[in-house]
Amino acid sequence: GATGCGADGPGGEVSGELLRSTARLPEPFQVPLPVPPVAEPVRTRGGADVHEVEQRAASQEILPGLKTEVWGYDGRFPGPTFVGRSGHELRLRVRNALAVPTSTHLHGGVQKPEFDGHPTDLVLPSRFPDPRKGHSGKHHGKHSMVKPSEWTVSRAHKEYLYPLEQPATTLWYHDHRMDFSAPQVWRGLAGMFLIHDDEESGLPLPEDARDIPLMICDRAFEEDGSFRYPSLDPSLTEEPGVREKYMEGVTGDVILVNGAPWPELEVSAERYRFRILNASNARRYRLALDPGPREGAAFVQVGSDSGLLGAPRSHEALPVSPAERFDVVVDFGAFPVGSTVRLVNTLGSGGTRDVMRFRVARRPKRGGGAPRVPRRLADFRRLRAEQAVTERQFDFRQQQVDGVPMWTVNGKPYDPGSPLASPRLDTVERWRFTSDFHHPVHVHLAHFQVLARSGKSPLATDVGWKDTVDVRPFEVVDVLVRFSGYRGRYMFHCHNLEHEDMAMMADFRVV
Ligand code: C2O
Ligand code: CU
Repeated sequence: GATGCGADGPGGEVSGELLRSTARLPEPFQVPLPVPPVAEPVRTRGGADVHEVEQRAASQEILPGLKTEVWGYDGRFPGPTFVGRSGHELRLRVRNALAVPTSTHLHGGVQKPEFDGHPTDLVLPSRFPDPRKGHSGKHHGKHSMVKPSEWTVSRAHKEYLYPLEQPATTLWYHDHRMDFSAPQVWRGLAGMFLIHDDEESGLPLPEDARDIPLMICDRAFEEDGSFRYPSLDPSLTEEPGVREKYMEGVTGDVILVNGAPWPELEVSAERYRFRILNASNARRYRLALDPGPREGAAFVQVGSDSGLLGAPRSHEALPVSPAERFDVVVDFGAFPVGSTVRLVNTLGSGGTRDVMRFRVARRPKRGGGAPRVPRRLADFRRLRAEQAVTERQFDFRQQQVDGVPMWTVNGKPYDPGSPLASPRLDTVERWRFTSDFHHPVHVHLAHFQVLARSGKSPLATDVGWKDTVDVRPFEVVDVLVRFSGYRGRYMFHCHNLEHEDMAMMADFRVV
C-alpha cells in the first residue's frame, strides 16, 4: 500500500507493483533503436495540414522472435511522430478501428476543450453501446461516476483541431479514455508530437538525423509475447484483490525505448539532441550516462515540457516522472571513438537499470557536427509570485470512498462536470499540490513554472515551462500557472495512469 512511499522517496526504485515477464527476454543492446516515422499530411486545406491516423490492432515484433499485439496509431507502437509549425493549424483525423472507445489527448497542446481529448469525449467503434443511453457498468467502467449527460460521443472518427499557437516544444499524444487510459496506453496508444518555430530554427541545435525522440516506457510480456497487464476494471476483474494489488501503479521488467527493448544507437562523436519522454504508466526514472563524459556535463538541457529554456542547464542526472519531457543535447565528442555509453536508470536494478546504449562508432564528418549549445536560447520570462491573482490548494491522496480505496483530489474521486477551480483566462494563479505518494501532476491547457518545493527552491531540473511535475511523498509543490488560450472545461490529474484510472482527476473551467 501507500505505506511503502516513505521508503520510496526520491532515491527509491519504483512506485507500483512490478509485473514480471514470462516471455524469454533478449540480452540488452541487441536491437537497433527504431525511430518512429514522421507522419506526412494527406493534404493541406486553407493553410492547415490535414493528417489521418487509424487506431488499430496490429502485430509487432518487440521481443526478437515473438509477436506482440499492439493497439497503435496506424497500428504502430509508438505511433507516427507528428511535426507541426508554431502558428500553423494541424488537423488530425483519428479513425477508431479498435474494439474499444478511445479519446486522443495532445499532451501539452493548447487546443479548444472539444479537441482536448477529454476522458468523457469518446470516439466509439462503429458497433459499441452508447454510454449516453445508460449503458454504463461493464463497457464504460465504474471507477468514476459519469452522469450520462457528461459523455460526448463521435462514431468511428473525429477530427481534432490543433492551432499550435505555442512555441517550439516536445509534446506527445496518447489515449485518455475514461477509466481505461492505463491499459490502452500500455497496449501502445502513444506517440510523439513536435512543434518547431523560427526562434528554434535560428539556433544551432543538432537537427534531422541528430534530433531523435526517445520515448521510454516499461512493459511486461507473457510467454507468447503478448503484453501482460492486470485488469483493473472491477467489472472485468477475474482475480479478487487485483485492484488493491495494483493500486500504486503497474510497472514492468522490460525497458523499451521507441518500442524496442534496451536498444542500441550508433552515433558519431558529435552532439545529438534527444527528446526524452517518460511514457510509462507508473515508473519513474533517474537517467544518467555510464560512463559519464570525460569533460562537460552528461546532459545539456535546452527544453522542458512546454518549450525551450532561456539558457541551457547542465545536469548529471535527470529525474523523469511519467509524462515529463526533457529536451537535451548530449555531446558524444566527449567519449572515445569505439566506446559504448549506457543510458541508465539509477532508480532501477538489474534489467530496469539499463535503458539503452550508445555506440560511438565514428568521428563526425569533417566540418560537421553542431557547435556548442549557445548561451541564450529562447525568450523565456520567469513568472513572479506577485503575479498570482488567486491561490488554490489541491491534495492528492488515497482515500476510502464507499469502502473502496480510491485516489482522490481534495478528498473526491473524479466527478466530471464538477470543476474544482474556475480560473480566469489570461491570469496567473498559484496552485499548491500536496501528496501522500509520488504523484506526477499534469495540468491540461495551461503551462506552469515551479516556484518552490516544500518552501525551498525547486530542483535544477524543474526549470522552464512545464505541464507535469512530480509531487513527491509528503511534499508541497507550489507552481505558478498561466491560463491562456481558450475558455471552457479542462482537467488536471495524476499522470500515474493507474492512479488516473482510479479517479485521481479533476475538472477546471477557464472563465
Ligand atoms: Cu498526458 Cu491528461 O494527460
Ligand atoms: Cu498519482
